[in-house]
Amino acid sequence: MRELIDKAKVIALELKQAAEKVVTIKEVDDLRVQFMGREGCLTLLIKELKDLDSLAKREVGPVLNQIRVDATEIFRRLKEDIEKREAEAANMREKGFDVSAYQPKGRPDGTRHIYSKFIEDIEDIFMSMGFSIFDGPEVETDFYNFQALNIPQNHPARDMQDTFWFEKDKKLLRTHTSNVQIHAMQKYGVPIAGVCTGRVYRYEATDATHDCMFTQCEGLLVDKNVSISQLLGTVKKFLQRLFDSKKLKIRVRPGFFPFVEPGLEVDMSCVFCKDGCSVCKKTTWIELMGAGLVHPNVLRAVKVDPEVYSGFAFGVGIERLAMLRYGIDDIRLFHSGRVKFLQQF
Ligand code: DAH
Repeated sequence: MRELIDKAKVIALELKQAAEKVVTIKEVDDLRVQFMGREGCLTLLIKELKDLDSLAKREVGPVLNQIRVDATEIFRRLKEDIEKREAEAANMREKGFDVSAYQPKGRPDGTRHIYSKFIEDIEDIFMSMGFSIFDGPEVETDFYNFQALNIPQNHPARDMQDTFWFEKDKKLLRTHTSNVQIHAMQKYGVPIAGVCTGRVYRYEATDATHDCMFTQCEGLLVDKNVSISQLLGTVKKFLQRLFDSKKLKIRVRPGFFPFVEPGLEVDMSCVFCKDGCSVCKKTTWIELMGAGLVHPNVLRAVKVDPEVYSGFAFGVGIERLAMLRYGIDDIRLFHSGRVKFLQQF
């Protein structure tokens, strides 16, 4: 009895799939014969009903009947649709309307995404200063994203609210590109100088200036006797080149990031005004990036002796830089795929 119901369900599914492919009236007729003709699979199945006892008949009968009613309706609708379409086409032909005559004017050229171009600009500037380009995983372990970066177990940056975790293997989507500092030092040792651009993820609501996925550029230089003035010189040169302004200035304020000591917040002079505008909130300074001297614990995590080596690191949001360079006021436009927006670049 169960078997009969299962068979009927398979037939109903097959009919639905076959019905999606038919195009002509003849195909509809053939399909009807295949399912509901004298030797059709549905007809034969219904015939099997008579061999069942009355109790089973009462159960299976209505199921088969419903499938038969549905099938009849499918065939009726298919025929109706095709006839309508053919009538419309005939009508068009009569009016001399050639449906195939429409040709869009010129096919628009594809180009690289503004993101890719901007990232290449950034990488070019750093390469010209002697930095290598690093790459690293976006699906990361706790060790690389947090522990090795001196982010302790109870640090708020680890909050389940801020991080996308994979339940299965306890991995996470990296929350910053700082994880690449660790991979790079493990792979290439020290001295080292490189930058990494890549996607990072934060579990947060999106608005005009926040997205749950965005891009960062991370820089790292480790050598003997590295000082803050080298960090500031590098960052300033980079920004001056990126914004094409020799007059661009930077200033630093104390900031806290567990993986640097001292930690700094770097601001740049507003590129839009001299005495205050809405972008710089009338301060003439724009908050830009985190930076600092690599924390001894980070060096220890990759078995580098902090008594011998020191380094600097910085991290900056690429969307923020691009928004400032191109005067874009909504971060979500970058991922929207809106052709009108993209065609501007
Ligand atoms: N990882 C930090 C963030 O996502 C940015 C950052 C700050 C990177 C200071 C650094 C640094 O390398 O030194 O907000």
